[in-house]
Amino acid sequence: MLYRLARTGIFQLDAETAHDLAIKYLPKMTGTPLDLFYRQQLPNRPVECMGLTFKNPVGLAAGLDKNAECIEAFGAMGFGFIEVGTVTPRPQPGNDKPRMFRLLEAEGIINRMGFNNLGVDALVENVKKSTYDGVLGINIGKNKDTPIEEGNSDYLICMEKVYQYAGYIAVNISSPNTPDLRSLQYGEALDSLLSELKAKQAELEELHGNYVPLALKIAPDLSDEEISQICQSLLKHKIDGVIATNTTLDRSVVEGMKHADEMGGLSGRPVQLRSTEVVKKLHQELGEEIPIIGVGGVDSYVSAKEKMQAGAKLVQVYSGFIYHGPTLVRDIVKNL
Ligand code: FNR
Repeated sequence: MLYRLARTGIFQLDAETAHDLAIKYLPKMTGTPLDLFYRQQLPNRPVECMGLTFKNPVGLAAGLDKNAECIEAFGAMGFGFIEVGTVTPRPQPGNDKPRMFRLLEAEGIINRMGFNNLGVDALVENVKKSTYDGVLGINIGKNKDTPIEEGNSDYLICMEKVYQYAGYIAVNISSPNTPDLRSLQYGEALDSLLSELKAKQAELEELHGNYVPLALKIAPDLSDEEISQICQSLLKHKIDGVIATNTTLDRSVVEGMKHADEMGGLSGRPVQLRSTEVVKKLHQELGEEIPIIGVGGVDSYVSAKEKMQAGAKLVQVYSGFIYHGPTLVRDIVKNL
């Protein structure tokens, strides 16, 4: 109810301005009486996944808290886990503005942010200050100006820097807004990335004495054959989890709507069905061998349950959270 009122004001602002204001003020409000507006005490619904215990299966998806500035605030909202990032080795400004658009009638968002972030060192400093006791995922990517042939090294740099601060590490090779990034999802490029990541994981496990699971985040714009091949690579390299999906390039569901022709990745309700199909296909291929985190258009308990029935162990929300606020987390967790 409160969020619905606040949303009227928030949606008067352009999408990125609203986002930036939230990221700026949420940390200032948390721990003061003002956080009563969003603090929620939710029942415990523990889930074991990737060797970790999650308080409940509803997480915040990557991209909302790119620099890990609001971990406590999102923790107070009752999320079972929080994924920060995508972070790159060096800070970068991202694409020109405007680059984030609401598709109101479809409860969708189109973004072409392009991994705007303060760099991995700044993210680690923020994470170090955090007192959050839930599972923190850190999502890593490559800088735009690193040639794609040298992309692996960006992931390894980030991995090394975030390893001891992460509950799990998400490897993002599926943003449509970094040129050629999605080419890492295929064939030899994928095999070489996964084998280097696994080798680095073993090295860091030895060094720090703890095993931090790796989850690969994939796009919804893949054929069944391509998904099968990705699954073969995930199994071969013993990757710990898979996050499905990122945003889509497909516009068929939103044709004719305001902003539908903007370049970038589409999220929210328009990607809901496709993401669930990808989760289902992954589950057919992976069985219980590798857990799936389902993300894409989760906007209610019903759509969260659909992801789980398709095979997801956990779900994440981004766009649904923008449209429905913290109540969405409560509604899903309470009804589970
Ligand atoms: C995203 N998403 C995203 N994903 C990621 O791995 N790294 C990122 O930096 C971002 N950035 C980002 C920015 C914006 C504005 C949006 C809307 C989305 C993708 C996000 O995590 C999620 O996978 C998709 O949005 C699908 O979920 P929803 O939004 O339909 O719940």
